[in-house]
Amino acid sequence: MSEELFASPLLHWPASISHIEEKQSVADRAVAEVQDGQLIGIGSGSNAYLVLWAIGRRVRAEGLSVAVVCSSYETEVAAVRLGLTLRELGSVTPAWGVDGADEVDPDGRLIKGRGGALFREKILWHTAERMFLAVDASKHVQQLGQGFPVPIEVQRNGVTLVARELAALGATEVGLRVAGGKDGPVITESGNLILDARFDEIAHGLHATLKLLPGVIETGLFEGYRFDLL
Ligand code: A5P
Repeated sequence: MSEELFASPLLHWPASISHIEEKQSVADRAVAEVQDGQLIGIGSGSNAYLVLWAIGRRVRAEGLSVAVVCSSYETEVAAVRLGLTLRELGSVTPAWGVDGADEVDPDGRLIKGRGGALFREKILWHTAERMFLAVDASKHVQQLGQGFPVPIEVQRNGVTLVARELAALGATEVGLRVAGGKDGPVITESGNLILDARFDEIAHGLHATLKLLPGVIETGLFEGYRFDLL
């Protein structure tokens, strides 16, 4: 991977980005949408990261004035490194946003949250005037949940209750997401925990059911969102 893709010596993609050529062409298509003076929403994950980097290059080359609003520390740090103006998520309305997904089904339902940024991603998707989905072909699935679990961000006091309710709702496996660089669980950027739940079939409306459980902050199920595929 090119050195240029490193956000800073302290924060970078650790190994390599899979399907990088395909993701790079998706990023090039996204960057063609950039107009001078725009506020753009940047999601999380490798696709969003590559789009952000492509935006930074275009802004520098053409002297554009572009501000961004990000759904994770990762893309925020990269945006600062690129010299882009950062705005506060939730208090502004991006003209458009771009984000990746872990799975997309034929009805346009998504699973997101592999990177743990599902809560802030939902805020971005709700506040942007238009969303572009940046995915490579491997993300298109016939049945949602065939490869990825559904991530659910839960306030820590609700974890046992929510895990029990998930089992009652038909989850075949429920696990507390464990951190890679520390002992114990992943603590999200909002200070919560993540339960990953696998289902044989993800019924329409599962997100709404889960949101009613005490302790559930957000789910990584995106149902009924409008987006354009890049
Ligand atoms: C982050 O929490 C996720 O929702 C990502 O957007 C999703 O995992 C897609 O990541 P990639 O673009 O790296 O595939």
